[in-house]
Amino acid sequence: MTHLPVDLAYEEHGAGTPLVLVHGFPLDRTIWRPLVPLLESKFRMVMPDLRGFGLSPVTEGVYSMRLLAEDLRALLDRLNIERAILAGHSMGGYASLAFAQAYPQRLAGLALIASQAAADSPETRASREKTIEEVKRRGLKPLADKMSAKLTCQPELVQPLREVIMRCHKQGVIGALKGMAERPNAQEWLSTITVPSVVIAGSEDAIIPPDRPRLMTQLLGRAWLVEVDKAAHLPMMEQPAVVASALMQLIPTV
Ligand code: MLT
Repeated sequence: MTHLPVDLAYEEHGAGTPLVLVHGFPLDRTIWRPLVPLLESKFRMVMPDLRGFGLSPVTEGVYSMRLLAEDLRALLDRLNIERAILAGHSMGGYASLAFAQAYPQRLAGLALIASQAAADSPETRASREKTIEEVKRRGLKPLADKMSAKLTCQPELVQPLREVIMRCHKQGVIGALKGMAERPNAQEWLSTITVPSVVIAGSEDAIIPPDRPRLMTQLLGRAWLVEVDKAAHLPMMEQPAVVASALMQLIPTV
């Protein structure tokens, strides 16, 4: 497996405790923008595009979660950030967990948003294979049509999300689907994460079943759960004030 990091594109806002916000699939850094006015006075917010998404380099092959974590570590190095709080959304949460395992000394806190620690079931793996074939044959439109409606319970967000998905690169989508399908089960070692952690879950999430964030909270060493009403898979866009106040709880008090 290659571990050669790429230089991620990112946007940066504010000053304070470093907070790296890692988007999910098949999205980009722009999903975090509703949080900027709420958090920029407290955090140095770093919002990267993951490999294959947004303005970041698109590479061939499998985007393992470990490889995505390596890209994040290289970004921290580039920005001279020794330790940061990581907030990962869904696939960004899988990558953040891989980062927590590989670089515990670089982690100051962890937020897992609409995410889970379990590996894919055989059925989910098979459905990712089907999606890969469909993207190869028909492009991104079927994925954008299907996912945009599933991501949110707020009708006005469906079209903007559809546009984000249509801006994705086919190669990036395929690499990420392969990487998610082969990700290991993180449940076994969650208790070794000792930094303060918050698990944030939308009560209407149709992608991550509600038992997953609950179990993850129990398995983590020092975590609490925030269940967000009137939110589905994108609480940072659907209920930004609730997500912002949960993230502020991670700011070290000493
Ligand atoms: C995501 O939102 O990142 C993905 O839908 C997660 C997944 O497919 O497991």
